[in-house]
Amino acid sequence: MILSIESSCDDSSIAVTEIATKKLVFHKKISQELEHAVYGGVVPELASRLHAEALPKILEACREWFPKLKAVAVTNAPGLAVTLIEGVVMAKALSQTLGIPLIAVNHLKGHIYSLFIEQPTQFPLTVLLVSGGHTQVIEVESLEKMNTVMQTMDDSFGESFDKVAKMMGLGYPGGPVIEQLALKGDRERYAFPIPLQKRGELAFSYSGLKNAVRLAIEEGSEADYPDIAASFEHIATEHLYRKLRKYFKTHPPKRFAIVGGASANRYLRGRIEALLQPYGAELLLAELKYCSDNAAMIGRIAVDMYEQGKFTPLSELYSASKSYF
Ligand code: KG4
Ligand code: ZN
Repeated sequence: MILSIESSCDDSSIAVTEIATKKLVFHKKISQELEHAVYGGVVPELASRLHAEALPKILEACREWFPKLKAVAVTNAPGLAVTLIEGVVMAKALSQTLGIPLIAVNHLKGHIYSLFIEQPTQFPLTVLLVSGGHTQVIEVESLEKMNTVMQTMDDSFGESFDKVAKMMGLGYPGGPVIEQLALKGDRERYAFPIPLQKRGELAFSYSGLKNAVRLAIEEGSEADYPDIAASFEHIATEHLYRKLRKYFKTHPPKRFAIVGGASANRYLRGRIEALLQPYGAELLLAELKYCSDNAAMIGRIAVDMYEQGKFTPLSELYSASKSYF
C-alpha cells in the first residue's frame, strides 16, 4: 500500500492505494471552501492552519494500513508554499517513523493521473489541464515524458471564474456557481472580446476578459448577472476552443483528456467533445469527484513512480511553489 497526501491549496486529503492492483482503498478529503468563501478566495495563512488541523484527523482513520505501507507520497509542487509544507512535514514524519521511502509528486502530473484512478492507463495523450492555478495543454507520452505546448500568459481558466464570482459577490469557488448561474442566462447577450483572437500565438490569456466582465458588472444590475455569467462562460470556453482548433491543425488529436478542477464544467466538456468529433478522437475525463484536488490522484501516480523506483531522499524533500514540467 502507498499512503498519499495532498495539501497544495485548500483541500486536505489523504488516500491509501494498493500497489499490486492500483486500486484506491481509502480516500478522504476535507475541503476548506466554506472558510475561504467569506474572503472570495483562498487565504494561504488560514489554509495552512486548517491543513494542520484536518490532516492529522484524516490520518487517524488510516492507522489500520500503517503496517502494510511500502511508501508515503506527497504533493510537493506546484502550489502554495505555506500549505504544501503541511503535507510535506507529515510525509517526512511518516517516512521516518515507519521506515518507508518518500515519493515527491508534481501536482499537475497528479491531475493527469486522476484519469486512471478508475480506468486503465492510456498513453499517448493530449491533455488540457484547467484548474485554479493552471491552464495548459500537455503532450503526454509517459510518466516521464510530458511536454507543455500551450499555457496561459496571465490568469487561469478556473481563476477567471473565481474572480467573476467574487466581483458578483458570489463567494468562492466561482466555477460551480458561475456554471449554475450561466444556465439561466443568454450566452449571446454580451459580446465580450475573445482573448488573443488576432494574435496567432498558441497561448491563453484571461486577464482582458476578466476586465471586460468587470465593466459589464459595474454598468449592469444583479438582474443582468445570469446573462453576464453565460456570456463570460461562453467566451472563456470559446477562447480554449479556438486555440485548440488551431493547434489541432498541425497536431491532430487521437486521444484527448481534460483534467483539473475546472474540467467539471459541462459547457466546456460539450464544446471540446464537438471539437474532437471530426478527428474521431476519444475524450477521457476523470470521475467528477476526482476533478478537483484530491489525494487519490497523488496515490495513483505514486504507484507508477514506486514501480519505477522514483523515490526522494528525506533530506532532499522540500516544498516549493515553482511550477515545472
Ligand atoms: O484543480 P483544482 O481543485 O485546484 C487547483 O489545482 O487549482 O481547481 C479549482 C478550480 C477553481 O478555480 C474552481 O473555480 C474551478 O476549478 N472550477 C470550475 C468548476 N468547478 C471548479 N471552473 C469552471 N466550472 C466549474 N464547474
Ligand atoms: Zn489542482
